[in-house]
Formats: sequence, C-alpha cells, structure tokens
Amino acid sequence: MPVAIANTSQSEQFHQVDRHFTSEAKLWTELYQRDDLYALGFQIRLRQALTFIRNLKLPPGTPALDVGCGGGWAAIELARTGLQVTGLDISGPMIATARRNAEQADLPRSPADGNRPNPSFEVGNLVNMGYSPQTFGLIVGLGVFEYFPDRLAAAREISRLLSSGGTLVVTIPNPDRVTHRVTRWRAGALNRFWRIQRLCQALSTTGRGKQKGIAAQKQQDETPAVQRHNMSPEAFDALWAEHGLQRIGYAANGLGCGAETLANAPLLGRSLAGVLARGLEAWSTNGDRRLVNACSGYLGVYRKV
Ligand SMILES: C[S@@+](CC[C@H](N)C(=O)[O-])C[C@H]1O[C@@H](n2cnc3c(N)ncnc32)[C@H](O)[C@@H]1O
Repeated sequence: MPVAIANTSQSEQFHQVDRHFTSEAKLWTELYQRDDLYALGFQIRLRQALTFIRNLKLPPGTPALDVGCGGGWAAIELARTGLQVTGLDISGPMIATARRNAEQADLPRSPADGNRPNPSFEVGNLVNMGYSPQTFGLIVGLGVFEYFPDRLAAAREISRLLSSGGTLVVTIPNPDRVTHRVTRWRAGALNRFWRIQRLCQALSTTGRGKQKGIAAQKQQDETPAVQRHNMSPEAFDALWAEHGLQRIGYAANGLGCGAETLANAPLLGRSLAGVLARGLEAWSTNGDRRLVNACSGYLGVYRKV
C-alpha cells in the first residue's frame, strides 16, 4: 500500500517510483492472472480501456504508446488489434517482465517497421524521452499519472506527443473515495489493520498457502514507499481541457471492491462479488456520474482537438 512522502525533489521522487515498481515487477503480472476481487479491479480497468480503444476503430499501424506499461498487458492487447505499440516504463525489471509476457503472447513482428517486434518496449521516464511531437495517435496511461511529481509538465508532454485528433486513455485515483478521504493517520491505522488481517488469513491456511501468504506480506512490507497524487474526475477533465484535450468517454474503476476490499474478506464469495463489480463498472461507463464520484479510480478518454 503506497504511503505519501512529502518534500522530496522531483528526481528523488522518480527514483522512488522506480524502486517501488522494481520491487513490484512480479505483482504486475500476477494481478492479471489472479481471480481475487482486488486483482479483478485491475483486469476490469484494462478491459474498460481496451473496449473504448476498439470502438475508436483506429487504422492498423497507428503508433500507440502505453506509458507506464508495467507487465505490458495493455501493450500486448493493443498490438493484437494491429496498432504499432511502444510500451514504456521507468523500471527495468518491469520492462523485462513485459518483454517475457509479450514473447509468450507470440505476436507477429511488424514488416512495415523493419520487422521490429510489436509491441516493442523501452525503459525510460516519459518526461525525459524526447519523442518527436505528435508521434502517437493513441496514448494509454493506466495507473501511472498519479506517480508524476509534476502533473502539469506530464500533461503538457503527453499532449505534445499526441497527434492532432489523437486519443488519450488515462486513469487517476479519486480523492473523494471514502478510504482516500481519511487522514494519513487513519490510513496508517487501516493499513496496519489490513496487514494483521492478511497475516491472520495466511496463518489460518495450511502448507504452501501459509508460506505464500506470509511471503506476500513480507514482500509488501519491504516495498519502498512512494508518493501518489489523486485528482477528482472534474479536476482531471479540467487539466486535460487546459492542454487541448476534450473528454469523449469515462468510466469508474474499483467500485466493486468496496466493502470486500475494506474488510479484506470474501463476504459475497468471489463469483458473486465479481459479477457485482463488473456490473457496477459497466453501469458507470459513460453513465451515472454519481458512481464516478464514488469510485476508487477514474478513467477518462480524451481527444486532442
Ligand atoms: C501502477 S503500475 C501500472 C502498470 C500498468 N499500466 C497496468 O495498469 O497494469 C504504474 C507503472 O508506471 C511506471 N511509471 C511510473 N512513473 C513513470 C514515468 N515517469 N515514466 C514511465 N513509467 C513510469 C511504473 O514503473 C509502473 O510500472
């Protein structure tokens, strides 16, 4: 669970982000293979993004950037639809897992681009990459924007890289979610509560389950903390509008976790909770703004005008 750290320089913050995600490289592959509700939230977020993108019907070969690509899941799926995809991540080990995941997906290379693998992956910090202006017809950023120390500079760079008429699909955690509203002290107390509960759960299982549960908690305890910024859906829309991007779609994520996540207990059972989560998130997509305002994270689709 990320914890905020104040008053660090930007380069130190990027360094912390790199260390944090480097220690989580394995997790960002496992999250797309697990079937618990927490993991399901990320899988739904990816599916929401891909559904919006498929509906855009972009011409094959359109250059796309998956910024903060993690294990490369969005990049792989976008390459499957025929886009020419670059996956970029600040963490080297994250890119190594993305490359492995892409190899396993066994996608065709790109004859139009010197037989380059598609997706291709690069290690780097978006704000230092120096890509040419208007390089990409599509930019995807799932779970990454909150880690830029200077959000205005990041938005400016993303807008610069997007071609005219290009589309941005991007997410941000919502500060108005109940658990995000509680004070830092309470958040600390909640984290301790979750930690004890997870350990009790692990200890109550037997054999490999027990070892895996304890090892997972140990890894979480050792993960370096990182600063994470939230923005309300309204502020997020306003930020992109300031940079010449108009909202054309939205969805809420993390709605289905609610009480299940808070209590860290399978109150409803995985399948029922999963059905509920998918239903709520489908309902929120271009639908009820009240759901969007209650969500854990907000996904916006923006067109550069
Ligand atoms: C929460 S993970 C999300 C991964 C992936 N997008 C997903 O949804 O599965 C955020 C990722 O963004 C990367 N990241 C953070 N800041 C970055 C930056 N300035 N430039 C490139 N990647 C960055 C992290 O290393 C991490 O892999």
